[in-house]
Amino acid sequence: MIRYFENIDITERNSFHVRQIAKRLVEFDRAEELPELFAKYGTENWYVLSGGNNILFTQDAEPLLITPCDNRIEVIGYMGDKVRVKVGAGVEWDDLVAWSVEHDLWGIENLSLIPGKAGAAPVQNIGAYGVEAKDAIRAVEMYFVEGGNFASLTAEHCAFGYRESVFKQSLKGRVVITAIEIELSKTPNPQLGYGDVVREVEARGGATLANIRDAICSIRRSKLPDTAILGNAGSFFKNPIVESEVAERLRAEYPDIPTYPAQEEGKVNLAAGWLIDKAGMKGHKEGNVGVHERQALVLVNLGGATGGEVLTFAHKIVATVREKFGIEISPEVNIL
Ligand code: EPU
Repeated sequence: MIRYFENIDITERNSFHVRQIAKRLVEFDRAEELPELFAKYGTENWYVLSGGNNILFTQDAEPLLITPCDNRIEVIGYMGDKVRVKVGAGVEWDDLVAWSVEHDLWGIENLSLIPGKAGAAPVQNIGAYGVEAKDAIRAVEMYFVEGGNFASLTAEHCAFGYRESVFKQSLKGRVVITAIEIELSKTPNPQLGYGDVVREVEARGGATLANIRDAICSIRRSKLPDTAILGNAGSFFKNPIVESEVAERLRAEYPDIPTYPAQEEGKVNLAAGWLIDKAGMKGHKEGNVGVHERQALVLVNLGGATGGEVLTFAHKIVATVREKFGIEISPEVNIL
């Protein structure tokens, strides 16, 4: 079914909870409805608004907002210990993780409690605690708006990288993702190498799926603000990727600087949260916007902030980090 709204308040449709109006918004349940939808509302000026968890609206939304609502999870094949699952773009990501844990299937448990919908997961290749969506995604199903055709892209063609994919590059603004296909495993494969995960899992009695999920949920709840209470979009900034020499130069001055190997050789990831924290901005507030007190990567709406205010504040943080470290951090969040 297609549901059409005009001049709709989208405060509750973006996790930052900035108060904006969308001129036109459509929700659709099934991929097959997309040709009809675009025939009716036009192919010119549109934008996919999924769960609204990674977006900052800085003005009323002019484009037609399109929200995928297909929330089916369906097993489509078995091969050895592997299970292939098709997931509608509108499935809440964490419901999918809960489903996988209930069905004793390994692969995405470390991605517990990441806010957002399954259809958005491949766009920025969501990741946490040493696992990324790309490790499970085998194909992405989509509708090409201009040509009016459906296609399925295998993972090799999705150009997945750190918070990157072809959907942020050459396919940006051209396709609507309708479903993803993931592969999970019946064989246990705990990934506990990141941060506090081992300790928290051991404290719960060992590496079962349920314990890992519980541990990750608890770590996230302890650091990340609940969007129902404090509007936010998770990490506002990406962790910057720099040449190894740049990291070494910084290490000489700041021996405790955390660094992580980047996918590209000769480069390393720095922690934007650490940079912002070390620059003295953690917990810093201006008007209705602030840097979260427990995780400097997250900007929060303290109540009634406009998108413009958040953006101005974000620019200040970028400038402060640049001045102190000579490092350029950039938003992970989409700004509209
Ligand atoms: N750090 C600080 N101060 C802070 C925040 C972090 O010093 O305020 C330091 C930490 O002590 C640690 C390092 O920075 O040494 C990295 O911090 P953390 O492990 O918390 O991870 P992150 O780099 O801040 C990334 C993802 C998160 C994901 C976590 C866990 C990005 C942009 N963010 O955060 O993803 O949950 O790793 O894997 O890559 C999201 O994308 O919305 C998100 C929350």
